[in-house]
Amino acid sequence: MSSGQVPNTLRVECIADDIRWVHDEQDLAEQLVHADMNQIPATIVGGGSNLVLRTRLPGVALLLKLRGIAFERLGDDDWRIVAAAGEDWQTVVDGALQRGIGGLENLTLIPGSVGAAPVQNIGAYGRELSEFLESVTVFDRQHRCYSTLTGVQCAFGYRESVFKRDALNRYVITRLALRVGRTALVTNYPDVARELADHGGGVDRKTVADAVAKVRRRKLPDPTRIGNVGSFFKNPVVTEAELDGIRAVVDIDDYPAPSGTAGRKIPAARLIDAAGWKGVRKDRVEVWSRQPLVLVNLGGATGGEVLDLAAVIRDDVYGKYGVALELEPAVLGSD
Ligand code: EPU
Repeated sequence: MSSGQVPNTLRVECIADDIRWVHDEQDLAEQLVHADMNQIPATIVGGGSNLVLRTRLPGVALLLKLRGIAFERLGDDDWRIVAAAGEDWQTVVDGALQRGIGGLENLTLIPGSVGAAPVQNIGAYGRELSEFLESVTVFDRQHRCYSTLTGVQCAFGYRESVFKRDALNRYVITRLALRVGRTALVTNYPDVARELADHGGGVDRKTVADAVAKVRRRKLPDPTRIGNVGSFFKNPVVTEAELDGIRAVVDIDDYPAPSGTAGRKIPAARLIDAAGWKGVRKDRVEVWSRQPLVLVNLGGATGGEVLDLAAVIRDDVYGKYGVALELEPAVLGSD
C-alpha cells in the first residue's frame, strides 16, 4: 500500500491512502473485487479534470491507464471508433480529424480521459458525446463481471448520465465504441459562427475544429497551466414564469431545455457575471474573468477553498435572482 497525490487539473493537494495504476481490464477487475470484498472504498480516477478533491481520499484510488484506439471503417463515411478509458479524449478527436472522420470536431480540446467522457456526457458548441455513443464497456461491481451498455442504457442528459446517478459507484467504464462519420457540421453556436465568419472562405471539419479551438483558447484557462475544472456550475433550467422573474432584474438569453425536459436553459455565466463576480479573488481562488463559470486555482488553493468560493457565489446568485446553481464537477474526499 502506498499513499500518493491524486492527479487533478484543479491542482489541489489530495492524498489517497493507497494509489494504484491499472493497465488492463483483468487487473481492474481483480483490484475492484479485492477492494469490494475487503470493504475498502475504491475511487476511479481518469484525467482528474472534472474532480474537486478535498485533502484526503480514503481507501484506494485506481488510476486508469488502459490504452488503445481503433478506427474501423464500416462504409464510405461511416466509422466505428473503439477507445480505451485511459486514452486522452483529444487523441480520439485528433485521430478522427486526421482521417477526415466527421462528428467530433466541436468536441475538440475538452480536457479529460475517454473513460470520463460519458460520465458527464461531455458537450460543447452544439454537440454532445451521447449523439455518437454506440456502447460503453463497463465493469459491473454489483455482479462482478464486464458488460456492455447501450447509449439508451446510459440514460444521457445534459451533463448527466446513469454513471452520475443511480449507478454512481456500480459501473467502471473501460472502453467506448463511437459511431461517427455521416453528420452535418454544427456551426450555429454564436461564438463559433462569429469565428467562422471572420475566417471567411469554405467551411469544413478542420475549419470548424480550428474555430472551436480558438474560442476555447480565448475564453477558457488552459488546465495544463492554470488549475481549473472547466465549468464549475451547470446551466440551470427554469420555468417560463421563473424566466420572466429573472428578466425583471437581469437581461439574459435563453435556450431550449435539453430534450425531454420542460422549461428553458439559461447561462449561469450571465448570472454570475451580472452579480459582479468576474475576476473576484478569494483566498487563492479566482473567478475567471473571460468566463465566470470557471473558478481557477491561483496556486496552492485547497479543494475546500474552491468549494467555499463556489458556495458564496451560489448563495449570492440565489439571493439576487432566485436561481439555485448546481455544481458540475464531482466532489470527492474528506478534510
Ligand atoms: N456570459 C456572460 N459573461 C461572460 C461569459 C459568458 O454573461 O463573461 C454569458 C453570455 O450570455 C454567453 C453565455 O454566458 O452567451 C454562454 O457562454 P458560453 O458560450 O461560454 O457557454 P456556457 O454556457 O457558459 C457551456 C458549457 C461549456 C462549453 C460551452 C460551449 C456548461 C456548464 N458549460 O458554457 O462546457 O464549453 O457551453 O459549448 O454547459 C464544461 O462543461 O466544463 C464546459 C467548459
